[in-house]
Parts: sequence; structure tokens; C-alpha cells
Amino acid sequence: MHERPGESVEVLVSAAAIQARVAELGQQISQDFGGKPLLLVGILRGAFVFLADLIRAIDIPLAVDFMAISSYGASTRSSGVVRILKDLDEQVHDKHLIVVEDIVDTGLTLNYIYHQLANRGAASVAICTLLDKSARRLVEVRLNYVGFHIPDQFVVGYGLDFDECYRNLPDVCRLTRGEEA
Ligand code: IMP
Repeated sequence: MHERPGESVEVLVSAAAIQARVAELGQQISQDFGGKPLLLVGILRGAFVFLADLIRAIDIPLAVDFMAISSYGASTRSSGVVRILKDLDEQVHDKHLIVVEDIVDTGLTLNYIYHQLANRGAASVAICTLLDKSARRLVEVRLNYVGFHIPDQFVVGYGLDFDECYRNLPDVCRLTRGEEA
């Protein structure tokens, strides 16, 4: 029903498993940041579904802001050169930041974001990713909270897209294209 011609999807992480893990992450973050000014920074667009669930699993005061990032295209991707399309609206000074990302692949995007934010006077900068595809990592990034470790496969759903499609799938799914689909 969700699939486009020539593409097929197969569940890798079910909606139920995601919800259970998000509840655990929310509890952990609530314990770790109680009494501290907390700002969750969602990375658009892929993280918006995860962020929406995660904040409701956290039971301490928090604020939410967003950044949108674009890489300079496939050929320069490995250089780690990314561009900020939308910056934060909130001040970060003395706040504890948690960057919320959908997936860490090469690590180049988060590495850039981390260094951008770490130089702005925040009290701390932590990273929370729903998915960790560590087989393709090019640069080491310290991930404080990880939902699931996944193999080197292209995934869609729960906010993640291919060609802007499939963000609305409730599960994280493997995407197959072409003759295999
Ligand atoms: P990195 O800079 O290589 O770590 O790339 C991270 C970004 O690439 C993520 O925020 C996603 O937008 C995108 N990405 C990497 N792997 C996938 C995938 O399997 N499905 C959908 N998007 C992905």
C-alpha cells in the first residue's frame, strides 16, 4: 500500500519495538538531566517523528528547537562539508543540549553539527540517535543514546525517507529497489 512501483519495504524494527525503546530512552534522559536546563535539538527533517515521541517519554522540563542541514551533494559528501539551512532560534548558552537525529551513517553530518554547537557556549552537548549504522562510519562520533544498531542497509519509515517518500511508515523498514523489489 505504501510502496511505489519498483520498490518494496520489509519491516526491520517494528513500531512496537520502537515505542518500547523510546520509553527507555526517555526515562534515561529524564534521570540524567533532572534539574538541568534541557534543550532538545531535532535535526530536520528525518528526526521529527522520533523527536515527537521522545519528548513525550521524558518527564522533566525541556525546550525543543530544530536545525535543518544540507550536505553539498553526493560527490562532496565524504568531505563532511554540510550547510546549515535553518539554525536554532533558541539561545544555547549554559543549556544542556541533546541533538536528536534519525540515523548516524558516516557520522559526517553529526560531527559537523556537534562541533558547531559545542562552540556556542552550551553547558553540554549530547547526541541521541534512533538508529546507528556503524558499519559505514567515516568519522568517530560519541553517541550518548542509541535506539537500535542496524546493519548496512538503506532504511525508511518512522521519519526516514527515500526521495521524500515513506516517512509515514510506522515501522523502520528495509527498502529494496529495482529487480530485487
Ligand atoms: P551521515 O552524515 O552519513 O551520518 O548521514 C546521516 C544522514 O544521512 C541521516 O540524517 C539521513 O538523512 C541520511 N541517511 C543515512 N542513511 C540513511 C538510510 O538508511 N535511510 C534514510 N536516510 C539515511
